[in-house]
Amino acid sequence: MDKFVIRGGEPLLGTVHISGAKNAALPCMAAALLTDQPVILENIPQVRDIQTTRNLLTAMGAEVELGYGRAHHRTTIHCANLTTPEASYELVKTMRASTLVLGPLVARCGRARVSLPGGCAIGARPIDLHIKGLEQLGAKIAQEHGYVEASATRLKGAHIVFDKITVTGTEDLLMAATLAEGETVLENCAREPEVADLAHLLNKMGAKIEGAGTPTIRVKGVSKLKGTKHRIIPDRIEAGTFLIAGAMTGGDLNVASCEPAHLEAVIHKLNAVGVKTKTNSDSVRVMGDNPFTASDLSTEEYPGFPTDCQAQFMVLATQAEGTSTITENIFENRFMHALELVRMGANIKIEGHRAVVRGKTPLSAAAVLASDLRASASLVLAALVADGETIIDRVYHIDRGYEHIEEKLKDVGAQIKRIGEMFPKKAVAAR
Ligand code: UD1
Repeated sequence: MDKFVIRGGEPLLGTVHISGAKNAALPCMAAALLTDQPVILENIPQVRDIQTTRNLLTAMGAEVELGYGRAHHRTTIHCANLTTPEASYELVKTMRASTLVLGPLVARCGRARVSLPGGCAIGARPIDLHIKGLEQLGAKIAQEHGYVEASATRLKGAHIVFDKITVTGTEDLLMAATLAEGETVLENCAREPEVADLAHLLNKMGAKIEGAGTPTIRVKGVSKLKGTKHRIIPDRIEAGTFLIAGAMTGGDLNVASCEPAHLEAVIHKLNAVGVKTKTNSDSVRVMGDNPFTASDLSTEEYPGFPTDCQAQFMVLATQAEGTSTITENIFENRFMHALELVRMGANIKIEGHRAVVRGKTPLSAAAVLASDLRASASLVLAALVADGETIIDRVYHIDRGYEHIEEKLKDVGAQIKRIGEMFPKKAVAAR
């Protein structure tokens, strides 16, 4: 299993380029299931979740070309024949976003069999709202042997109000509604830029969607969608992670090829802590200016502060003077990183869904364990300012969502190396 070895104390200096958004690429890949024509997606990040999605789609009978190497960030997905509209437990258990195929499959094939995701490190994460919405669109749903089985001759437009804001739930039902008969109105939708990016792709495929990126989305169903080419938006969570890293290390880092408008909440918080930023059209420069001031934080749905940057902000809070209270409102168990940070010298007390961080505390290197994708990122950030050499185990979590993170960090001055290989040579040759 791969590990990172990081020697702390180096400021991050220079320019880092942000990759395409994993969380936009995943639904866009699932959207290719809606048409028998090829869909070409550009700016696809080279991360493990993309590879998992490729395996998922090919197991259904899709042809998926996925380029590798720095010059290849494009995939062509051709779902002419979908022989097996199923997502197995083996795939869903490694990547919960696999459930995004449920809506497109039932809309296109009239049936779908998708494993229920079960528990997860950061909370229960049920998919009841996806299922309820599909039922409202006329699908018959059965749950057996850990699988959801959905069937419908043709879905019918409906008025659906989400009980709770869900990102992949909005995306799943949005995709299903494109091929439904008549109009669908989705209310209390997620407003994340990834939802808007998906709608942008779907409209290029011939869908009739209005309002994506707002709480109410209207979809006029069409009988068929066509192939197209689409460029995935930049990854705002990767950008946020690098902004926090640049600030914390007392660096001067230009986070380039990003979309600053998607980063407002993170930039606002950095400024509140005393970090200087300069925003340009497609980049944000961050200048770490110790000492930092403590600042409270609450995670919220977009456009609020993203839960996917909470763990990284907590590390910054350990380096700020005073007490910061961090409230996690999206997931019930998303403080696993705090225990590892305490082992590195942080003063953090967890009280339910609140973490009270008292700073500033020096961090010292330790052997730590990555528990989920964003928690791993926070351990990398902690290691960058810790005294000594930190070893982070189970970095396969970080490989799920950050493209070549160690190379990007090394290029801007971090002392980081990977022990072991992300993709064994044999597997690369087989591709
Ligand atoms: C997506 C993101 C993830 C991010 C999260 C919140 C992708 C692939 N993943 O995850 O990185 O952390 O949004 O911004 O885009 N819920 C239900 N029932 C449902 C669905 C969700 O109760 O049917 C609850 C969840 O348990 C959670 C909350 O709603 O407490 C939000 O979850 P949701 O927005 O669905 O997260 P994901 O789409 O899984």
